[in-house]
Amino acid sequence: MQVLGIDVGGSGIKGAPVDTESGEFLAPRLRFPTPPSAKPEPMAKIVGDIARQFNWQGPVGAGFPAALHHGVALTAANIHKKWIGVNAAELFSNASGCPVSVINDADAAGLAEMRFGAGRGRRGVVMMITIGTGLGTALFIDGKLVPNTELGHIEIDGDDAELHASDAARKRERLSWKKWGRRLNRYLQTLERLFWPDLFILGGGVIKNAEKFLPSITLNTEVLPAELLNDAGIVGAALYARQALGGGDE
Ligand code: BGC
Repeated sequence: MQVLGIDVGGSGIKGAPVDTESGEFLAPRLRFPTPPSAKPEPMAKIVGDIARQFNWQGPVGAGFPAALHHGVALTAANIHKKWIGVNAAELFSNASGCPVSVINDADAAGLAEMRFGAGRGRRGVVMMITIGTGLGTALFIDGKLVPNTELGHIEIDGDDAELHASDAARKRERLSWKKWGRRLNRYLQTLERLFWPDLFILGGGVIKNAEKFLPSITLNTEVLPAELLNDAGIVGAALYARQALGGGDE
């Protein structure tokens, strides 16, 4: 099945048509910066623009940086608060003229890694962490997703973990890889103590610099870098849409 996958993020909105059997892109992906206001209407317009640029008329799957119930955004950490209570699926569908399903962005990236990447064939408890503007998490038990885990927001020393350990925090505070790596390690150690996973998969744009910060990670749990890099969110959103909009068994 062919699905237009779109990864709606706090800093960029990117999309490509995906072959959900192979996980391959059917055309090079497009990327637009997220409008600075990060409000619903301007972001939906970009989703519509991406669908139009690909001349798309089929199903669309969108990864979105919030917890979601039936297409409705429940949180808004790195997007405008106006998103809370908005039916993102409906809004994107109106903007693109296509049926759209939405899934949390980290859950989408996790689905793609479990199917085509570092988590392929892995049973037990697998936790994917996407490290970018925010800290996103996706939890799998024997390959089955537990949706909407928002573990980037656990508190460490009374503060939201994402504020100190995301890639945005590294950039904002101009931290060395080593210093930031230690913060990330503390965050992962906290998750390790609470969930005892069999595997952590680390993803997000920062993973291309894995060799600079992985030496600071001192967990007992196995840690693997994501394999699909920046494409996981797009591929996973497409996989989810195949199931949500009919036609597959995700
Ligand atoms: C949001 C999550 C999202 C993550 C990565 C967090 O701030 O609360 O829903 O998955 O950022 O974008």
